[in-house]
Amino acid sequence: MTEASGYKTFHGLPELAGLCSMERAVESDWSLEQSVGRLKRLHFILRRLHEVLTAKITAEPIYELKTAFSYHAYLCAEQVSLIRRRVAEMREPPLGLDKVPDPALQRVMDEIEAAPTTGELLVSVYRWLTDEILASCKQLQTDAHPLADAPTVRVARLICFELQDLAEFGRRAIPEVVDEASHDSMADWIDHLRQCLAAAGGLDGTKTVTNEMPAAWHDPAGICYQKEPARDERFHDPYNAGVNPEAFLYDASFDPQDKTLMMYYKRLREIDVPEMMASILVELRDEEPWDFHMEMSRQLWDEARHAMMGEVGFVSVGIDWTQIPINFTWSRNLNLQLDARQRHGVLFFIEQGLMPRTGKRYEWEVATESGDSLSKLFQDFDWADEVLHAQIGRRWYVPRHQSLQQSLAYGSDCWSQVLSHYREYQNQGLTQHRNWWPELYQQACEKWEKTPDPRSMAFCTTYEDTRADLKRIDPS
Ligand SMILES: [Fe+2]
Ligand SMILES: [Fe+2]
Repeated sequence: MTEASGYKTFHGLPELAGLCSMERAVESDWSLEQSVGRLKRLHFILRRLHEVLTAKITAEPIYELKTAFSYHAYLCAEQVSLIRRRVAEMREPPLGLDKVPDPALQRVMDEIEAAPTTGELLVSVYRWLTDEILASCKQLQTDAHPLADAPTVRVARLICFELQDLAEFGRRAIPEVVDEASHDSMADWIDHLRQCLAAAGGLDGTKTVTNEMPAAWHDPAGICYQKEPARDERFHDPYNAGVNPEAFLYDASFDPQDKTLMMYYKRLREIDVPEMMASILVELRDEEPWDFHMEMSRQLWDEARHAMMGEVGFVSVGIDWTQIPINFTWSRNLNLQLDARQRHGVLFFIEQGLMPRTGKRYEWEVATESGDSLSKLFQDFDWADEVLHAQIGRRWYVPRHQSLQQSLAYGSDCWSQVLSHYREYQNQGLTQHRNWWPELYQQACEKWEKTPDPRSMAFCTTYEDTRADLKRIDPS
């Protein structure tokens, strides 16, 4: 029996605050350098995964994947921040967190980013890389000294916990999206990824480097961000701007219950915000510090949540939302016509406009009066999220301008530069701007068992000459 195994605590209470046994605690096979080294490798992989998933949001057509990538990119960002904080506690700076810890790790992530199909992305990220990250974190929990390096053990444990959502999503999603044949054809590429990782000594660098790094499989030139948003087949008539929900919402003469439909529509339409914000994050990848990316990533995820709240809202009323044209011209026009700084200006201008009495509080009040408890709940949290977003804008966008007023004027100007192309889309046959509102309203009234209000039924204000903030669009 060693000294440690015979160690007795007072009343037999768990030793060392329950962290580990005394036998484990007397082992000295760990150092701060090893801890920092492993964390930096995990940091690199998670940061690149955050970038890869963010870059796929805009052009991924499938809504369920768009929202999942938004969530998972945000989760990765949280882990990155967690690791950065821990590394900074360990006699660093210089943190050296922007350095590539191993060229073979870089190759792995570049290969995944260059994946030409959604299937390859899903299999490589969710069936392979996530497992590698989880295994590294579990190994770190085992290897790090449980007492001396307890904060690192905690970080590794938290990462394992949070990334379970990625593993579980992949487990359910991959069989639905990737058929067996394409799965088999990917086996060689996944093997190639394994070889690259082996050339790095594994994700955490603890394994012996057994082979040379193989030549690139995918052409790195294939890493090209596509900024034009794509939607799946349920999103028909996406150029339709034939219904202006803000005009309905801010008209005091309409019934609050009727307005909940317009609010659910506005929420669901917000899927265009992640599509647009992803372009800001990709284009400013190397220009802004990590905290910018962290906060903007949280905001991006919130906007995806808002879209899903709209989806849930329609389900709660018993309405098939896919019959409604969910417009994508806001993200499309911003992404194709403005640069990243200008887009950020528009985003801030719009979100700042949501703060006064006529904005998010008003939507929550309408929801409260409507009697629709789900609408009230969603608007309550939507309002809170938007307050946070306005603060994020004040931290990261406003200081680039001389004053708040000037930053707002810039955002408004940028928005005015974006042409709505209302008539052009019609002339090109892309949409007829069909007024979808009366049909939707009629269906909702049947579900609500109420007689439609003839004035609501007759609503037909479009976006032809009015912006979403109800400012007139100059026709010139
Ligand atoms: Fe939102
Ligand atoms: Fe927002």
